[in-house]
Amino acid sequence: MTTPGPEQGAAQVDAEEARRGAFSSRKVFILAAIGSAVGLGNIWRFPYVAYENGGGAFVIPYLVALLTAGLPFLFLDYALGHKHRGSAPLSLARESRRAETIGWWQVGICFVIAVYYAVIIAYSLRYTFFSIDKAWGDDPEGYFFGDFLQTSAPGVTLDFVPAVLVPLVLVWVLVLVIMGLGVQKGIGATSVVFIPLLVLAFGALVVRALFLPGAADGLDTLFSPDWGSLTDASVWAAAFGQIFFSLSIGFGIMITYASYVGRRTDMTGSGLVVGFANSGFELLAGIGVFAALGFMAQASGVGVDEVVADGIGLAFVAFPAIISEAAGGSIIGVLFFASLFIAGITSLISILEVVISAVRDRFELGRIPAVLAVGVPATLVSVLLFSTTSGLLVLDIVDYFINRFGILLAAVVMMVVLAWGVRSLPGLAAHLNRFGSLKLGRPWFVLVSVVAPLALGYVLLRDFLDTLDEPYGGYPTWMLNVFGWGTAALVVVVALVITLVRRRSVPDADDTVKEAGR
Ligand code: ALA
Repeated sequence: MTTPGPEQGAAQVDAEEARRGAFSSRKVFILAAIGSAVGLGNIWRFPYVAYENGGGAFVIPYLVALLTAGLPFLFLDYALGHKHRGSAPLSLARESRRAETIGWWQVGICFVIAVYYAVIIAYSLRYTFFSIDKAWGDDPEGYFFGDFLQTSAPGVTLDFVPAVLVPLVLVWVLVLVIMGLGVQKGIGATSVVFIPLLVLAFGALVVRALFLPGAADGLDTLFSPDWGSLTDASVWAAAFGQIFFSLSIGFGIMITYASYVGRRTDMTGSGLVVGFANSGFELLAGIGVFAALGFMAQASGVGVDEVVADGIGLAFVAFPAIISEAAGGSIIGVLFFASLFIAGITSLISILEVVISAVRDRFELGRIPAVLAVGVPATLVSVLLFSTTSGLLVLDIVDYFINRFGILLAAVVMMVVLAWGVRSLPGLAAHLNRFGSLKLGRPWFVLVSVVAPLALGYVLLRDFLDTLDEPYGGYPTWMLNVFGWGTAALVVVVALVITLVRRRSVPDADDTVKEAGR
């Protein structure tokens, strides 16, 4: 067998990229990564988490979590995907066969998140139109839970709610068409159009909110520091949890996206741009949402703390109330819900790409067959579980458990296995350091092998004990066991089974391809 020369090597790189797909430039990759990071977590989760956990003082644990765990883990994800040019399971398997299961675990987590994330995007789509004529009248809460969702008592029903089912199917069709178009023409192009649009829509919303009467009270409430909160462990736990979900790390997303980036790319510099853009957007969301809540409080003659709601309540109950009260409310509503929709779509496509790329690699499928193999079952599960009258209850449970005992747990295991089991960190750092503007050295090793696993491990242990102590949300135990613990455990079992039914060998990223580099 003859050894290919550099030209043949470069041709192999081209052929491999044509087969897998690739982002056309670093700029497109950065926009796609920001698109993935900036999602529902930034707009509705961050403002509330920050307020609940010390207000202005939350900046400290938040920045500590970003710098000690978020960015270091982001570089770890980037290094794996960029070096090994594969989906999460394949990249981890190429690092060490012992690590492959972690990749499949992340694929399972992404499947679970995708099926409910799409539902919240569907609500947002519906509410973009409801905002035009303020369909909720003078009772946003009754409208959301009753008229719109027709929420049942705890339990599981198969009573479908057409008002959710129709937009949900539309979301799936849109997203699967984007996925079918491929890495550049689908994911890349969507991000290039949607991210500037999101910045414009959300920027306009924030400016409008800042001019509402009472806005200053809202900002005061958000930013008044409660320094005492810094001694509370749960505040630090909240900061680490927020950073992982928000930066899209620990789900395999950034491994997958990094595998589509040109070889001579400055990945660490790109990571800094993505990390700070994500946090900047989060801060902007906090300002916009609290300015609007300040207005709401003043209009109803109560304190801001009385109008703050979390998650679903903030978006679909508090905001409609603000839209009804404010001058030009419909425009605020359309901007807010369209922003949620756009931010959600660019995150959902990244979550799904983890599953699609893994199925492609494992079963050697073309893009369209893989999109269908993943998309059809995902759409069915999403519709069956979440467009019924019990959909919101199941969603709430799955979301709580998979974030903690899925994403965070998989992240800790990945750091421990790679740092201590496989001893991968020096090789991965050397890979990124070839073209990276920020060089990874001893501080990165210490953060990834000791500080971040300890901090996250502690957060998880606390959450685990708390959840055992006080069953989440007052739901019946069987629901928590099936949709909470059960889902988190099922994902691990499926990952183990897929790894055990192994193919004989892991297809290697050809050495010539590696060296030919671009
Ligand atoms: N990073 C995405 C979000 O914040 C998943 O929603």
